[in-house]
Amino acid sequence: MKEKLFMQTILVTGGAGFIGSNFIRHTLKIRPQYRIVNLDALTYAGNAANLDDVGQQMPERYRFVHGAIGDAEAIEQLLEEEKPTGIFHFAAESHVDRSIEGPMAFVETNVTGTCRLLAACHKIWEQWGRTEDFRFLHVSTDEVYGSLGATGYFTEETSYDPSSPYSASKAASDHFVRAWQRTYDFPAMITNCSNNYGPYQFPEKLIPLMILNLMEKKPLPVYGDGQNVRDWLYVIDHCEALLAVFEKGVPGETYNIGGGAERKNIDVVHRLCGILDQRLDRTGSQKSEGLIEFVADRPGHDRRYAIDAGKIQQALGWQPRFQFEEALTKTVDWYIDHPEWIADVRSGQYRKWIETNYARR
Ligand code: NAD
Ligand code: DAU
Repeated sequence: MKEKLFMQTILVTGGAGFIGSNFIRHTLKIRPQYRIVNLDALTYAGNAANLDDVGQQMPERYRFVHGAIGDAEAIEQLLEEEKPTGIFHFAAESHVDRSIEGPMAFVETNVTGTCRLLAACHKIWEQWGRTEDFRFLHVSTDEVYGSLGATGYFTEETSYDPSSPYSASKAASDHFVRAWQRTYDFPAMITNCSNNYGPYQFPEKLIPLMILNLMEKKPLPVYGDGQNVRDWLYVIDHCEALLAVFEKGVPGETYNIGGGAERKNIDVVHRLCGILDQRLDRTGSQKSEGLIEFVADRPGHDRRYAIDAGKIQQALGWQPRFQFEEALTKTVDWYIDHPEWIADVRSGQYRKWIETNYARR
């Protein structure tokens, strides 16, 4: 991409969620050339208060728009109004367990919603005369590749083999993004990344769920034998990888992003018990290990994920900066330091944001 000297607007979808809100906060900090428009439907996973400070501190560089990726007409209007240089598409239903309980929301948002967004963006990009610098970055997951055995890594050439309704819906969305790129030359790129952790993650995913349960002395439910392996990626490392792909990546290409930190679930849970015990001065019979409970396994539970991130490292010069154990401690500290955020999420009070604050925007 050509370097531009003036302020560029980028559109982020799903920016009120975990990765999107970290991405917006971090990008505004390290990239003074960007102004960000955040389009989010504020589902249960969206917490617009995550970015209230950003909106207050730099209103000229951040705009929140309450809307859905499936509303093609509204997307087209927004694109005409804002003329963004590109789009970071995070919006999705993202939790595997919920996809097992209710797959259709995943089809509607991740597949149909993504296609409607693609169609709207493609239409407006054609009307603009196929602007050379425009990019559409589709944020996807390593779960599209299915499960690994004890050895091996996912590369960009690994065949798709999704196990859950969530990963099948993300796989379908990747195929549609590729179809738009190959059929219409639409300048899209795809990233497939491993499990993220960090601040602002909704406490349904392993790490924040365990942290909150530990703080509240609740049971720690470990699925199956706890030997499943995930490749953990600190969310800020993911955000920096996305910026590298957006700014230096090649349309039509896919980039795998991983933290190089494979850990068994049970080891992550033990580590969290140790950190929390140390932080909360729990000793002797107060220690948290006794809260661990092995529970029924997740149906279709993938055994191991591990990313070969060689392509993005060599082609774009990205490397993860954060070491797992240190960043995990940093993450625990963030939750300990944000009791109001936890109380709002636990009580459902964060949903009030829509009623009380939306009228202001
Ligand atoms: P999240 O569940 O925390 O946030 C999703 C956001 O999307 C929420 O703010 C929600 O309100 C919004 N949203 C949902 N449906 C929408 C719609 N129809 N229109 C507009 N907004 C909508 O998710 P996350 O963990 O931040 O994940 C972000 C993206 O990254 C997802 O596409 C996910 O598949 C992908 N991903 C996540 C991880 C991870 O470990 N969390 C790893 C790999 C890939
Ligand atoms: O790999 C990337 C994916 O990582 C993303 O695409 C998904 O959006 C994200 O949710 C995550 O999926 P996982 O299913 O791997 O994450 P989750 O935190 O739900 O589970 C991590 C591991 O921990 C998994 O092996 C299941 C296990 N687990 C999870 C929960 C919530 C438990 O043992 N107990 C639990 O209570």
